[in-house]
Amino acid sequence: MAARKPLIAGNWKMHKTVAEAVDAIRNLAERIPGESKVEIMVAPPFTALAPAAEALKHTAIALGAQNIFWEDEGPYTGEISGPMLTSAGCSHVIIGHSERRQYFGETDETVNKRLRAAFRHGLIPVFCVGETEGEREAEKTFSVLDKQVANGLKDFVADDLKQLVLAYEPVWAIGTGKTATSEQAQEVHAFLRSLIEKKLGRGLAESLRILYGGSVKPGNAAELMGMPDLDGALVGGASLDAKTFSEIVLYDRSA
Ligand code: 13P
Repeated sequence: MAARKPLIAGNWKMHKTVAEAVDAIRNLAERIPGESKVEIMVAPPFTALAPAAEALKHTAIALGAQNIFWEDEGPYTGEISGPMLTSAGCSHVIIGHSERRQYFGETDETVNKRLRAAFRHGLIPVFCVGETEGEREAEKTFSVLDKQVANGLKDFVADDLKQLVLAYEPVWAIGTGKTATSEQAQEVHAFLRSLIEKKLGRGLAESLRILYGGSVKPGNAAELMGMPDLDGALVGGASLDAKTFSEIVLYDRSA
C-alpha cells in the first residue's frame, strides 16, 4: 500500500480581505520549503480566491474554496459554481463544514449534491463530518458519523471517490480550544476508515486521507499526526497567522 501523504489545510472561514489574504500567503510561502513531506492547502474566502491563486503561483501550496454550489450556472443569487472555482485557480473545495450545517441549512443531501459537483469539475473535495457535544455525550458519535458518511456518499462508487478527502471535525472541538485527545481522534478515524471499507471496499479505505480538525495548534499537531489513521489536519483559527500555520505544516520537524 502506498503511504498516504498528509494534507494540512487551512480553512480561513470568514476572515481576511484581499490584501490581508495575499499578504498572509506571501508570508506563508516564505516559511515553507519548496519540497515538503506534506501537501498544503489554504481556503480563503471567495473574494480573495483569484488574487490568492496569483500569489500562490510557483509555490507548493494548493488553493481551496470553502463551498461549491451543485449547478454550474443559473439564477442562484449568492452561490458559487465549480467552473467559477476552477477558473479562479482552485484545486480543492471544503464541503459540508459543520458551520454550513449549523447556520446555513446544509444537509447530508445537499452535501451529496455538492460532492457530485466537485468531482464533475475535477476539484478535490474535503468532506467534513463530525458530532456535536450532545451527540457525543449521548454516545451517538458513531451512528451520527455513519449517517453523515452514508448519506453524503450516497450513490457514489469507489471509483468516483479516489480523490476524496474526509475530514473529521468534532463540533465541540471547533474554535473552543478543546481538542479531541489523540486517542479519541484515532478511535473515530479508525471507525471512519472501517466504515469506508465496509461500504466502498478496502482499496479506497486504505488510500483515503482522513484529516482531523478542531483546535489543531503547533503544540498538538505532531501528537495528533502521529496517530496511524490521522492523515493531516483541517485548521481553522491557527491557520490565520502564517507563522503559526507554518509551524503546524512543519510539525514533523518539531516532533
Ligand atoms: P479551529 O481550528 O478554529 O478549531 O477550527 C477548525 C475548523 O473548523 C476547520 O475547518
